[in-house]
This record gives sequence, C-alpha cells and structure tokens, in this order.
Amino acid sequence: IRRIGVLTSGGDAPGMNATIRAVQLTAAACNIEVIGFKHGYNGLLESEYKTLLGHHVQNIIQRGGTILKSARCPALQTPDGPAQAAATLHQLDIDALIVIGGDGSFRGALEIAKHYNGQIIGVPGTIDNDVDGTDNTIGYATAIDTALDAIDKIRDTADAFERIFLVELMGRHSGYIALSAGIAAGAEQIICPEFGRLQPGDLRSVITPIQHAQLLMGKSSYIIVVAENSYPGGTTALADELSKAIGIECRACILGHIQRGGSPVGADRILGTKLGAFAVEQLLQGAHLQMAGEVNGEAVLYPLSKTGDRRKAIDPFLVRWQQQVGSS
Ligand code: F6P
Repeated sequence: IRRIGVLTSGGDAPGMNATIRAVQLTAAACNIEVIGFKHGYNGLLESEYKTLLGHHVQNIIQRGGTILKSARCPALQTPDGPAQAAATLHQLDIDALIVIGGDGSFRGALEIAKHYNGQIIGVPGTIDNDVDGTDNTIGYATAIDTALDAIDKIRDTADAFERIFLVELMGRHSGYIALSAGIAAGAEQIICPEFGRLQPGDLRSVITPIQHAQLLMGKSSYIIVVAENSYPGGTTALADELSKAIGIECRACILGHIQRGGSPVGADRILGTKLGAFAVEQLLQGAHLQMAGEVNGEAVLYPLSKTGDRRKAIDPFLVRWQQQVGSS
C-alpha cells in the first residue's frame, strides 16, 4: 500500500479529528501517503481532496467537528454514484480507503467496493452508538457528557418552577444516548424506541409514574429524557398533551445539534486514536470490507456488511433498573 484515502461521512462526531490524526501519523510512519477527501463521499464524486501532511493534523485532537468536513451524499445513491466514486480512487492510485462514519456511510462503502479494486475499511464515528461490532462509537462518550451538562442545568430551572421537563436527545432510532445521559442525570423517566413506541392518546405509561412520584415522593421537579423519534408527533406535542392530561406545566427542550459539537472527552480521543491507527495497520495486513471496532477493550475487526444488520441492544441491566427503581 502506497496511498490511502480517508473521509468523514454522515453526522460529524467529536473524536473524528483524533481519528484522522491517527490515520495520518500511522500511515506516515509506514511511508504511506494519505489523501483526505472533503465533505464525505462528495469529495470522491467531485474530486475534492488534499494530501494530508503532519502539520495538517497537528493541534486538532482536541477539536470537535472534522477538518475534512462531513456531509450526507444523495449523489452516491444514484445508479452511477458508486462507480464514479471508485473511478476517482482508481485515477488517484489510491490502494485503500478508510471511511469514518456510521452504518449509513458503511452501506455507501459497500456499494463503492463493488466497483473498486482496492481495500476498504470502516471506522465507527457517530454520536448515536448504533453500530454493531464495537462497544462504543467515536463521539458517543462526548455526546453523553454534553447532554448531561444540559440536563443538569434544566434540572435547576425545573426545580425552581416545580415543572416537568421533557428533554429530547439525539440518537436517530437508538436510545443509547437517552439511556446513558438519562441514567447519569438521575432522570425520573426515560423514553426511548427500545421501550416501545408511545401511541398518541395513550400516555398512561408516562402519567402513572408521575402521579406516583407526586403522591409518594413529593418531588419538586421531574425530568423525562426522550430519545428523538419516540413519539409520533414529536416531543413538543408530547409535552403539550401531557400538560393537558395531568394539569401540570410540562415544557419540552429539544437539545438538537449541540450534542454533536464540542471538544471530545478523553475517551473519544483515545478511541479515535486507537481505531484510526488500527485501521491502517489492518489494511497493511490485507483487511478488506471490515470495520475497526473495540470490544472489551480490544481492537477488533467486524464485517462491514454486518454493522447495520440488527438494532444494537441497549444495556439490559440499566433498562431494568431504570424501569423498576429509577422511575420511582
Ligand atoms: O447520526 C447522528 C445524528 O446527529 C442523529 O443523532 C440525528 O438523528 C441525525 O444525525 C441528524 O442529522 P442532520 O444533522 O442531518 O439533521
């Protein structure tokens, strides 16, 4: 291998820069050139790239976002998209491609692989932690802390006004961020897709624990962490319906993209460094169509095609505890 391509794709995640840095440093140590494609797969389709040198990756490990920029790429899903992307890789004599992103980005990589003669490896970078084959994705740990910081602040105002707050967290269709941040914030309730979808007009499962807490615990604030996509009408509609049903002021706070930003916590810098370096080393060993993940502290390979096969289960111990004890 003489030349590697790297790109960041889909929702950016804190720690992507640490990953890019590790790829460049590890490759350079093996006399391999690194080409960074800009704006995800768009950089491949539009030949927007630059050679990454040591000074490009200096002083970036602590920065959120991604120096390569990220994007979703509808053009890759057109019939000619994957072949066009592969053509750019062939034209530039790129022997291997590293894709840093989530399972949607890995699906794109699998399509390109049908037309590409080189090797492809994925590195899981997304705040959602919804990629199978790795315990944690790069960015997830930082997103939890960001959400936690916000929920702690919301708790103060909820307590002062004796209000119920519904805080919506990201995760796409996964409750990982909601469960972790909810547990760490001591949220009274956590609502996420894994617990079953709430149906409009039937909020009993939400209301009963609130009434229980009021009667038995005399709580002056009540936080419900809601994973996005848990309620058909959205979290603001859920808060309004709840207010009407129980006669207590409920407010919704949609945390949104703030969860994607910020300086990565140590765990994400370390994970990004480890998996970026491991990806390069594994390419040199011949790995192809694999994802570089970490399981039980060990760097492992996992077939790229299986990363989105099933919904990665959220911690059953914490789920049970939250439902039986934490919500009381
Ligand atoms: O995948 C990361 C993520 O932030 C999800 O949690 C969220 O559903 C989605 O991306 C938001 O995407 P966009 O930035 O395109 O609105």
